[in-house]
Amino acid sequence: MAEPVLLGVNIDHVATVRQARPAPEPDPIHAAVLAELGGADGITVHLRSDRRHIQDRDVELLAQMVKTHLNVEMAATDEMLQIALALTPHAVCLVPERPDEVTTEGGLDVAADPEDLGEHVQALQDSDIDVTLFIDPDVPQVEAAASVDADQIEINTAAYAEATEQRDIELIEQELARVAAAAAEAAEQGLRVAAGHGLTYRNVGPIVAIEEIVELNIGHNIVARATLVGMELAVREMKALLDR
Ligand code: PXP
Repeated sequence: MAEPVLLGVNIDHVATVRQARPAPEPDPIHAAVLAELGGADGITVHLRSDRRHIQDRDVELLAQMVKTHLNVEMAATDEMLQIALALTPHAVCLVPERPDEVTTEGGLDVAADPEDLGEHVQALQDSDIDVTLFIDPDVPQVEAAASVDADQIEINTAAYAEATEQRDIELIEQELARVAAAAAEAAEQGLRVAAGHGLTYRNVGPIVAIEEIVELNIGHNIVARATLVGMELAVREMKALLDR
């Protein structure tokens, strides 16, 4: 039997709820500990340049506390490079970032700027940080990721996820085939293969079936489910305090 796919739990949206106030809770550090107790193979956070959810303090504490594997998503900027070199998480996933986007909208265009990105990859690897490049499922991008000596790619599954939401069978098959082809090419090039974005309890199955994919990073849908499966208990606990 094949090895199970590793799960990196992205806890950004625990911080989103905290920042909505802002309030001290829910603390993403608590969420990370609970995710690890639940069997997470790793904790993933995206330190965005605008600090809309995860804060510097969160990454500093996670770097000390995470017992499994800490993966920090970040833009390839000097500011973020300095933070990564100071905290030395196990892994950094370089992602493109646009200030007005709601979430990461697409993969890096590695092929367009291999030199700059290559320097970033090297600087991180020199500090023993594994480097992932988040790319769309396109073979030229996989080749470019290999050419800059990344350790891993993370294939953007957003288009596949979108197709599953639309229940468009033809598009789902097409997007799955793109992900599978990119994964096969990456494995051929000696890159470790992760995937993520938009994955849900309903659509993850066919991605798990792609044998080259060894890790998934899933955030929003797990946090969404946690708010629902935890609601009954949370209300019961508050009701108990109102008893007199
Ligand atoms: N991978 C990357 C590179 C991301 O930017 C995100 C979103 O922060 C995810 C995975 C997780 O996506 P989702 O929250 O939709 O599961």
